[in-house]
Amino acid sequence: MTVLALESSCDETAVAILRDGALLASEVASQIALHAATGGVVPEVASRSHLIMLRPTLDAALSKAGISLAEVDAFAATRGPGLATSLMLGMSVAKGLAVGFGKPFLAVNHMEGHLLSPFFGKGGPSPAVGLIVSGGHTMLVDITATASYRLLGQTVDDAAGEAFDKVGKLLGLPYPGGPNVNRLARDGNPKAIDFPRSMLHSDDFAFSFSGLKTSVRYLLPKLAETPLADICASFQEAIVDVLIAKTIRAARTTGRDTIAISGGVSCNTRLREKLTAACEKENLHLLLADPTLCTDNAAMIGYVATLRLAAGETSSLTTDIDPNLRLVV
Ligand code: KG4
Ligand code: ZN
Repeated sequence: MTVLALESSCDETAVAILRDGALLASEVASQIALHAATGGVVPEVASRSHLIMLRPTLDAALSKAGISLAEVDAFAATRGPGLATSLMLGMSVAKGLAVGFGKPFLAVNHMEGHLLSPFFGKGGPSPAVGLIVSGGHTMLVDITATASYRLLGQTVDDAAGEAFDKVGKLLGLPYPGGPNVNRLARDGNPKAIDFPRSMLHSDDFAFSFSGLKTSVRYLLPKLAETPLADICASFQEAIVDVLIAKTIRAARTTGRDTIAISGGVSCNTRLREKLTAACEKENLHLLLADPTLCTDNAAMIGYVATLRLAAGETSSLTTDIDPNLRLVV
């Protein structure tokens, strides 16, 4: 079974090819440089870039995999959530290829791609507590089996990645803020500033990061006397502490012995380091995706497509994009 998957939900044009669940190629054309000038994604600019980059990215993936389109058994694409004008491009290409080659089409939920990415190449999904931390989402999910998810909690305001990006912008760091805050934090003292850990002790699995962002804003007048590295390290520590405390508690509450963490923020080196130590201490098994699978990519879409196609699922060609698609209804 050879699956070709497209991902164009936001600002990465990505194409992956999987054969029997093994990755043959995963190409990502990043738009980071394009959006750096505006400090954020402008939807029209993103969709125009997808239009330009989809064909060369597809060709690069085919050439890396050493196959032709005629050898593909099914075409998959991200249906949502994401930017409407970006989603429709990947979906249209996948549908067009499926019609042209007379092969099945499968629409994939971007969040399921993130959620299951830590299981890729590790024997398939198994019961776990999943933490998705991306630019648009922060959610804890109880994974009972493939396609069976229960939402434990999510952010009530900003997503973790959004908080990193907004704070990066406040501090005048290059776009996107997340990796740059992470980089500067390496030389900072995480205890320098005692930022609030919102909802740390709340009796649920909800998160809130907008107050933390405001606390950083209050510091701006004192920027000259506070080392930037200390602000970054302390801010990062506050986010990481809350994410870890709630995830460990979710595992204890659900009785799961495995934690699977995904999404762009799961690239964060401090989060990976502290969560690894916390899981060791709590005797929990930690599944971390390879950093190339954490930020947006098509391999995770192809992985979900492979699992669903194997279970006999396909999508109708009338399936439309859904910018607000939910993981759990
Ligand atoms: O999963 P992703 O690529 O896109 C969404 O689906 O949202 O996540 C992108 C987010 C951005 O907010 C980016 O700043 C953040 O992930 N990110 C990081 C790091 N690398 C990427 N945040 C903190 N530390 C990092 N090393
Ligand atoms: Zn994503």
